[in-house]
Amino acid sequence: MILAVANTKGGVGKTTVALNIAIQRAIAGRDVWLVDGDRQATASTAIAIRSESHRRPAIACSSYPDGVRLRSQVLQQCSKFQDVVIDVGGRDSSALRAALVIADIVLVPFQPRSYDVWALQDIAQLVVEAQSMRDGLKAYAVLNCADPAGSDNSAAAQAVAEHPHLVYLDAPLHRRKAYANAAGAGMSVTELRVPDQKAAAEVLSLVRKLYVTDFAAKIGELSVTSGEESVT
Ligand SMILES: Nc1ncnc2c1ncn2[C@@H]1O[C@H](COP(=O)(O)OP(=O)(O)O)[C@@H](O)[C@H]1O
Ligand SMILES: [Mg+2]
Repeated sequence: MILAVANTKGGVGKTTVALNIAIQRAIAGRDVWLVDGDRQATASTAIAIRSESHRRPAIACSSYPDGVRLRSQVLQQCSKFQDVVIDVGGRDSSALRAALVIADIVLVPFQPRSYDVWALQDIAQLVVEAQSMRDGLKAYAVLNCADPAGSDNSAAAQAVAEHPHLVYLDAPLHRRKAYANAAGAGMSVTELRVPDQKAAAEVLSLVRKLYVTDFAAKIGELSVTSGEESVT
């Protein structure tokens, strides 16, 4: 499956989310390819740091900031991998448009803040355009840097309903230092020497909802909301 983590807005956690998902799939035994579509190449840098330690599951990583190249390379090589995760750069880049053409799922992380919620309009429009040109693209919005309390999370979640082409995925990642610490070392939050159990649980829940739910939807056997399945 090709998963694109995308948002035209920067700093919403695309790279952090893409890295955690890719690593979690590798830990589950999948052959993972992380494709970095951002000129800043943050994901590639994180994977380079990761590869300095041989104790952790390896992840193939390539950098294609140019959309034409990204599209042709991913289409040519994706059959060699079980899971492809594309970290798309911010802005309305060619890599973002290419990712929307080839992905099975686009995951849009956003923060529970006004500017982030307003910016959903932008990415929702690109999703609409992509869906009008091709079949089978599913688009989910997920909260990142969610607040520990208060009503902003639920207000932001409800705002997703204004965009009928975006489905709110109820698997928020909260604002936790563990995410920044782990990503800086090329790790998932589940790999930290002293893991943050809450961060680990929410990443596992997100991965489960994305992959098991998708698989379940295909075979039509499992409930979309069940959440008790093991990650395959
Ligand atoms: N859930 C989170 N909790 C705390 N910090 C986070 C979280 N998600 C991202 N960050 C931090 O926010 C900053 C932006 O995240 P990043 O993944 O680089 O965003 P993007 O790729 O969308 O530009 C980074 O410093 C990252 O460590
Ligand atoms: Mg990034």
